[in-house]
Amino acid sequence: MEPIEFTAEHVLENSPRESYIFGEFLSSREPYKSLYEHNPWLTPPDYKKPLEWGAGGYWDTTVGRKHEYWKSYDLPCATKDIHQMRRDFKQWGFCLIEDAMSERQCHEFLVRALDQAEGEKLAGVDQPTPTGQYVNTLINKGDIFAKCIEQDVSAVQAGLLIEQIMNETLGKGWICHSFLSNGADPGGYPQALHMDQGPLLPWVTEEAPALVNTMYIPQDVNEENGGTLVIPGSHRAFIEAGTGGEIGKLPPTINLEAKAGTIMIFDGRLLHGTGVNRTSKRRIVATMSNVKAWMRTQENWILSVAPDVLEGASDKLLHRMGLQALTYGSTIEGFGLGANGRVGDPWGSIKQFRSAADDGNYIRVRRLSKSSSLDELNQPYTVRAAMRGARDASKS
Ligand SMILES: [Fe+2]
Repeated sequence: MEPIEFTAEHVLENSPRESYIFGEFLSSREPYKSLYEHNPWLTPPDYKKPLEWGAGGYWDTTVGRKHEYWKSYDLPCATKDIHQMRRDFKQWGFCLIEDAMSERQCHEFLVRALDQAEGEKLAGVDQPTPTGQYVNTLINKGDIFAKCIEQDVSAVQAGLLIEQIMNETLGKGWICHSFLSNGADPGGYPQALHMDQGPLLPWVTEEAPALVNTMYIPQDVNEENGGTLVIPGSHRAFIEAGTGGEIGKLPPTINLEAKAGTIMIFDGRLLHGTGVNRTSKRRIVATMSNVKAWMRTQENWILSVAPDVLEGASDKLLHRMGLQALTYGSTIEGFGLGANGRVGDPWGSIKQFRSAADDGNYIRVRRLSKSSSLDELNQPYTVRAAMRGARDASKS
């Protein structure tokens, strides 16, 4: 007989919410609670209704130099001066590297990303969002993208400088979190403003970020074509709020204005979101976030767990090993984005990818384009089967 103190009834009876060790710290809904209370204009639009203009929504804005509030401020401009970048990053939460990609690098990046997006639509493996199409896991879809992850100067001429800034912000040993392209398609909605470091919410008040994003901008962006929405300096509001502290009134958003070839580096606490594209042409940027070296499981279970253990594992064990993807971790070719991360959620079940790989049947989405053959388009892609499986499982 187990000691009575270890029984489910006893533990439950002796664990009222108010006695939780770090209850207040971990379950305070701050800083988002006060953020929305004091800044109701940050509420995302209703995607079922036409987008409203002229009512003060966060998407209804312009670039910094034309903005009534911001035009008198010294907001970051694209520069090649690393000292200026350091100052901009610290004060405003972002800096802009001028000509980070050469004209040739930009062109190659843009053409490949757009063609891939077309191909994925035709193959029925595209990932639409209310804002525009995402192309996930760029690493598999063109050499240039893998080189960007390595900050290879043959793909991104400012690579060495970017490495230096990442070392200074995240500490050496940082890793790539993900690399995908984000479309702002004509007629789309704005993305909800968010911070990419969101899952580390209770820790956002640390001085240095745990996530830093590098946004590749292969075409001009502005207030017309959905230049990314940002609230300059908003990362500081979180740092200054302190643990459980409140966020006061925030200044307005601006649209990012940048020339093709710019890379924006931004702090994981900066409030931002994709803007609204009011032109008739799609615009893309690509976001590569990087995180501190420890932001993954120490044991690489996904590779190391033996096939028979994997087969026999309960949903709970799969979850413990990180084989349950959720929006912020362990997604495979984008499968798992939007999943809740709870035990058994079919939308985050990535075991099927590992099993397919073990059987030699994992078919990844590779280079596709509008001129791909029917054979290429109709391959039994594992990610397509996974999406179907999840859809069926959540219906039943
Ligand atoms: Fe983001």
